[in-house]
Amino acid sequence: MDYTKKMLRDDALKGKTIVVTGGGSGLGKAMTAYFLELGANLVITSRNIEKLQAVKTELESQTGGKVLAVQCDVRNYDEVEAMLNASVEAFGKVDVLLNNAAGNFISPTERLSANAFDTIIDIVLKGTKNCTLAFGKYWIKNKETEKVVLNIVTTYAWTGSAYVVPSATAKAGVLAMTRSLAVEWAKYGMRFNAIAPGPFPTKGAWDRLLPGDLKEKFDLAKKVPLKRVGKHQELANLAAYLVSDFSSYVNGEVITIDGGEWLKGAGQMNLLEEVPKEMWDMLEMMIRAKKND
Ligand code: HXC
Ligand code: NAP
Repeated sequence: MDYTKKMLRDDALKGKTIVVTGGGSGLGKAMTAYFLELGANLVITSRNIEKLQAVKTELESQTGGKVLAVQCDVRNYDEVEAMLNASVEAFGKVDVLLNNAAGNFISPTERLSANAFDTIIDIVLKGTKNCTLAFGKYWIKNKETEKVVLNIVTTYAWTGSAYVVPSATAKAGVLAMTRSLAVEWAKYGMRFNAIAPGPFPTKGAWDRLLPGDLKEKFDLAKKVPLKRVGKHQELANLAAYLVSDFSSYVNGEVITIDGGEWLKGAGQMNLLEEVPKEMWDMLEMMIRAKKND
């Protein structure tokens, strides 16, 4: 099976302007590249303008599309408003906000300073809030409709997770924001959805979640029923669908794309996967024998 095939038709996002926070690396860059191929104009933002400029040059020559690179720390509301203004000035409008920027690292929670905890909450939750509020208010004020906000969360937004507690706390807040505004701002012509990815190897995530030889020690593919990690194009396909007009009736949804990973951890008897096939005849016999006890 080829997981890298592209899903939508070539002009699926033609005429749309899409802002991707954290669009200069990892999954943000993969989604940006595919949106460009589908005809959209892209704004990529993060703290590192040199990185963004290099990605702009690379993706414009690769796809023939247009990219605006804007330095913007999502923790700072003034910078977010300036980024919105720069996007409108360049492309006349913005149709989609993709809240993808994030910060995260593994740590026992008792080792975290108050500032370390705040840093993750500020990037993930406050950053998503800053962008959503600025863009939402702008669309409402200008009576612009048919807008989409897509948030990237994780599956531990609802299960929680040890050792990434600030991230889990912040992503849970983003999920609540997604569902709340899907209802409240539908009347202004906005849709809100989220994607919850399982493991998709990126340098940013792997350096902070699996440093050193943890990469070899904890093979994340083994935790996934499908026995593999995700390919970036698979996520880009889902994101493209959710920001396109093809998903016009999807609102307030969180779509998990994790090969079944979180459910494997959740089901009480899932551990029976360890039982060898040959043992099932004997186990069945033992259970049946208890019928009249
Ligand atoms: C404990 C740490 C720490 C660590 C930083 N801090 N790293 N504490 N363990 N490993 C503390 C610092 O000492 C400081 O607190 C506070 O956190 C802020 O650190 P700074 O370095 O000043 O912050 P900043 O420069 O803003 O950098 C933010 C960052 C960094 C999050 C720490 O890693 C970053 O820029 N990350 C962006 C990219 C990223 O994280 N990508 C991964 C996303 S993966 P004090 O008290 O000393 O001032 C993801 C996956 C989800 O989200 C699910 C996967 C399955
Ligand atoms: P990544 O490459 O590290 O992406 C994070 C991006 O956020 C970077 O481009 C970074 O750019 C930007 N960023 C960080 N702090 C910022 C700030 N204060 N202001 C603006 N931008 C900031 O990691 P990734 O794996 O692609 O993650 C992308 C998204 O997917 C995140 O929301 C993450 O939580 C989610 N996710 C990933 C996985 C996975 O397996 N990879 C799984 C579940 C969820 P700068 O450093 O230049 O600012």
